[in-house]
Order: sequence, then structure tokens, then C-alpha cells
Amino acid sequence: MAVRSAAINVMIRAADKAARGLTRDFGEVSQLQVSAKGPADFVSTADHKADATLRQELGQARPGYGFLTEEGGATPGTDNSHRWIIDPLDGTSNFLHGLPHFAISIALEHDGEIVAAVVLDPIKSDLFWAERGTGAYHNDRRLRVSSRRKLNEALVATGAPFMGHGERGPFLAELNAALGVTAGVRRWGAAALDLAYVAAGRYEGYWERDLSSWDTAAGALLVREAGGYVSQIDGSPWTPDSPSLLAANDKLHRPLIDLLNVANRS
Ligand code: IPD
Ligand code: CA
Ligand code: CA
Repeated sequence: MAVRSAAINVMIRAADKAARGLTRDFGEVSQLQVSAKGPADFVSTADHKADATLRQELGQARPGYGFLTEEGGATPGTDNSHRWIIDPLDGTSNFLHGLPHFAISIALEHDGEIVAAVVLDPIKSDLFWAERGTGAYHNDRRLRVSSRRKLNEALVATGAPFMGHGERGPFLAELNAALGVTAGVRRWGAAALDLAYVAAGRYEGYWERDLSSWDTAAGALLVREAGGYVSQIDGSPWTPDSPSLLAANDKLHRPLIDLLNVANRS
């Protein structure tokens, strides 16, 4: 049985509470697809409500910690050494279109390092969590990245640019290279879950550009604690503020850096 620290328990409790609201709201979204106005405003309200619930729950349990959340921005705390980095709803487009693939992502930063992570997919009841130095878990099962060592057996995930967001040129070159030599490329639309799936050995690797720290801070700790590597696409060190991310199992991280960088040079 995995031993959860007090901090992880606080994070899971907050995520569970926000998840109950999101799950209820997701039930409404499919009805709204056919309404003249569509569900956009409703989803934006759901997203803000989840943000507020997480702030409320975490703020009550750990008064003084700061926040950086996608919907609420940066709120400094009285304790300068701790900060929550939160995406209350990762996979908004999926949620908006009634696709059951989205998550709540919570990371705890201590003195500039991510020390604890929770990524919760409420629809599949997939709880991923990790603590620095003690491993990553799916519910109570210890996670380990996959052991596949050949690109032609690897399933990899990515995130694609979309209207007004990101550059298509480099992405298309990278995608073209990956399509030619891997067993498949997926684009599921929730970065926190893409990272959790690398940690869980479901994908061998994942890359994306132009993400924000709330998309990646928790998921990157999951990958590292499951024995995988996280860098920028060019192989340089990654931090939550980096402009690109490449996460993979230990065997395929270097081959994926080489693949994507050759694609970018040609
Ligand atoms: C998005 C998702 C998506 C990624 C986008 C992110 P959001 O987050 O993680 O997979 O491709 O770049 O912005 O907007 O759903 O929280
Ligand atoms: Ca996000
Ligand atoms: Ca979001």
C-alpha cells in the first residue's frame, strides 16, 4: 500500500471536491451541444468554479501558501517558499465538446522545486500522484515508465498547434518524422494526462511546445518519479517555464530528441 503524505492527502481531497463539480457540469455539457448558444459560457463558468474550489480547499488546509492557477493567475502567499501551481481543467476543448478526457492538475512547489503532484481524471477515476524522491502512483499502484526500447514499437503523443496558438511549421516537421518511424502518434488534448500516461507506461514519449507551467508542473514530476526523463525538445534542461517539453521512458528519450531535432534541421 502506497503511503501518502499529509500534503498529498490535502491535494487529493481538494482535487476530489473540484472533480465532483466538474463531473456534474460535464453531464450538462452534452445537452448544451445542441442549444443555439452552445456550451462555451457554461464551460468557462465550470472551469472558474473548479479553480475557486481548489483555492478554497488548499487555502484552508495550508494558509499562507501562494497560488498560480490558470483561471485565477498568481496570488502570492505569506509563505514565500510554497506555491500551488494548478490547472483546474486541463483538456477544456474535450470538455467543451463532450469528450470524456480531461483532468485537474495540482503541483506543489517548494523553494522553486516541484515536490508533489496530483493529476485526477474524474471520468475514468484515474488518480495519478507523485512525491519527489518517493515514486509515482496510479491510485495505489506504483508507476514505472514502459521498457520498450525501439522507436518502431513506441506509441508517442503530442499536442498540435491550433487557431491562434503555436507555429505549425516545426510541429509538422516533427510529426512527419515521428509518423515515419514510430508505431503511432496520438493527440488526446490534455497535457497533464499525456504526461501521466508516459509515467504509466501507456505512451513511450510525449512532446509539445508552448505549454504553461500549470499544464506540466505536476505531470513532469509523475514522469520523473516513474523513472522517465523530461527535457526540452532540443534536449536541454526543462523547467515548468520552458517553451517546449519532451518526456519519455529512459530508453527512448535520447532517440526521440535526435529524431525531432533532425526533423527541425531539415
Ligand atoms: C491545453 C491542453 C492541450 C494542449 C494545450 C493546452 P487547456 O490546456 O493541455 O492538450 O495542447 O496547449 O493549453 O487549455 O485545456 O487547459
Ligand atoms: Ca491546460
Ligand atoms: Ca485549463
